[in-house]
Amino acid sequence: MGGTVTGVIDIRPMLLSDLPGVHRLECATFPQPWSEGVFRDELGQSGRSYFVAVADSGEVAGYAGLLQVADEAHVTTIAVTSEARGRKLGTRLMVCLIDAALDGEAKHLTLEVRSSNRSAQELYRRFGMAPVGVRKSYYGDEDALIMWVHEIDQAQFGARLEKIRSSLR
Ligand SMILES: CC(C)(COP(=O)(O)OP(=O)(O)OC[C@H]1O[C@@H](n2cnc3c(N)ncnc32)[C@H](O)[C@@H]1OP(=O)(O)O)[C@@H](O)C(=O)NCCC(=O)NCCS
Repeated sequence: MGGTVTGVIDIRPMLLSDLPGVHRLECATFPQPWSEGVFRDELGQSGRSYFVAVADSGEVAGYAGLLQVADEAHVTTIAVTSEARGRKLGTRLMVCLIDAALDGEAKHLTLEVRSSNRSAQELYRRFGMAPVGVRKSYYGDEDALIMWVHEIDQAQFGARLEKIRSSLR
């Protein structure tokens, strides 16, 4: 991204005014980026929780989104700028999504991830997510791995989440 992602990075709910920065990171990250309009629609709909990570400089350092239907929460997107990766920002964003899912009384968490995307899969495994199937050619050029973690409202997941949370302090 070529910006200055330094110092304290604050995570807060995404606002419409964040969309230009979010979209810049989206385009730098994904081969088939969402348009700004897709993000705008997501922010306007119920059952969605979107968060943005903003650096001291004001630059968007990351974002993540969640769609909840009944007791299932679906991670729709997560990205961290290449220069901010490896500093637990992805973990912090996942914790925000899971807190939002739990606030919405979700019991299960799922997502799709490129089958070659080992770093993201490793992040999700930390949260107890396990691969349960494949969506063939989901990305056009590649299959998606479908990952789930169940019973996120139960004590076992709560303990895992607390351990992750305390590792961030
Ligand atoms: C996936 C992504 C959001 C992770 O963000 P991040 O801020 O680097 O993640 P964290 O620093 O919180 O890493 C948490 C864990 O994920 C795993 N991980 C993250 N990057 C990794 C890498 N390059 N290789 C292996 N494991 C990695 C590790 O287990 C890591 O824990 P550790 O730091 O104790 O080793 C980031 O790499 C990214 O934006 N990638 C491009 C977009 C993308 O692939 N999104 C997912 C779409 S499904």
